[in-house]
Amino acid sequence: MSGIKVVTIGGGSSYTPELVEGFIKRYEELPISELWLVDIPQGKEKLEIVGNLAKRMVQKASVPMEIHLTLDRKEALSGADFVTTQLRVGLLDARAKDERIPLKYGVIGQETNGPGGLFKGLRTIPVILDICKDIEELCPDAWLINFSNPAGMVTEAVLRYSNIKKTIGLCNVPVGMRMGVAEMLDVAPERVHIDFAGLNHMVYGLNVYLDGKLVTDQVLDILSSGASMTMKNIVDLGWEPDFIKALRVLPCPYHRYYYQTGKMLAQQAEELNEKGTRAEVVQGLEAELFELYKDPTLDIKPPQLEQRGGAYYSDAACNLINSIYNDKNDIQPVNTRNNGAIASIPHDSAVEVNCVITREGPKPIAVGDLPVAVRGLVQQIKSFERVAAEAAVTGDYHKALLAMTINPLVPSDTVAKEMLDEMLEAHKEYLPLFFHEERV
Ligand code: G6P
Repeated sequence: MSGIKVVTIGGGSSYTPELVEGFIKRYEELPISELWLVDIPQGKEKLEIVGNLAKRMVQKASVPMEIHLTLDRKEALSGADFVTTQLRVGLLDARAKDERIPLKYGVIGQETNGPGGLFKGLRTIPVILDICKDIEELCPDAWLINFSNPAGMVTEAVLRYSNIKKTIGLCNVPVGMRMGVAEMLDVAPERVHIDFAGLNHMVYGLNVYLDGKLVTDQVLDILSSGASMTMKNIVDLGWEPDFIKALRVLPCPYHRYYYQTGKMLAQQAEELNEKGTRAEVVQGLEAELFELYKDPTLDIKPPQLEQRGGAYYSDAACNLINSIYNDKNDIQPVNTRNNGAIASIPHDSAVEVNCVITREGPKPIAVGDLPVAVRGLVQQIKSFERVAAEAAVTGDYHKALLAMTINPLVPSDTVAKEMLDEMLEAHKEYLPLFFHEERV
């Protein structure tokens, strides 16, 4: 490959400057000649604002990367080498419903692995599968790298229901955990290595190393003595110290929703009137970001973008693309087909696990069985993702109800059904398969 073509679907996202910055930094190793930012007509204004900032950024960096802005996905995909997807069907208003409606029932919505995540999956998966068909037709050799949430469920759906094999789901949580551990140990992140295994937003650090020496117990001691390790979008209410000692592996920030459900719910309920849900907070942040992006003198990624939960997302994305392109054979945690790496999860399911990243794609590193302490929860979320993905492609009400009911955040079948019915109605316009309308 020479002169790489990258297509970013959902290019009008406020996160795009992260990606552009990452590509600029790596240009010598990763010569991207064309970056196509694609969006839908409703996103046209944002696409232009963020696209123009991207153009100023590459110009300032004197990097010969052409930035193309388009609403024509097919035109963009033709001949692409890498396709990244970072889309939000129904925009942040839909996320606000995903988070707000469950709260009425005393349930955490959680836009990825909770009831909100179910609905984000139901809206997103059919769109991603349409993109897969376009990739098959227009750029069959391209890698599809998905950041759209729920990234684990989306990867599961692409693996099961599309013909695309070259697909990877990506998340910034493992990078954030590594940075968090480095901070706890007061060392540079490059000296820390973590054996990650689990699922997206349900990933554990099984072993933690400093300069190749096992320091898991030391890190868990620091965590249990009150050190903070979280992300901008998840409040840190501290861990029960004895629980962390008993768990014996490093949890990710999202585990708070499952191990501290009551406290997290109370916190969300308390903030609801004052701040709104996270989606509503993010709407405010986004409005500010786009105001900044409009400034014709701005030609770098503004630091305010770090207020979003997706910090380091650019590092994860650009390192992955770089390692595939340059066949680096380095180790990165990604969402990919398990292929037996985690014995407790089916071979053909998506897992988030350390992989050796090669030109041929990620090769998962075997971890064997997950410790019994975490195995059950991971398997339960895997079942949730799998049933939810099936519901998304079939539009089957009963599958959706099953997914909702088996989610660990949902207390009963009747609450599941009431929430499901209300959320289906609320998201009707984005769920054509459930309402038997022809999809465009
Ligand atoms: C984390 C997660 C992402 C998620 C983001 C939300 O980075 O890994 O999957 O999209 O947080 O951040 P936000 O600022 O939108 O709440």
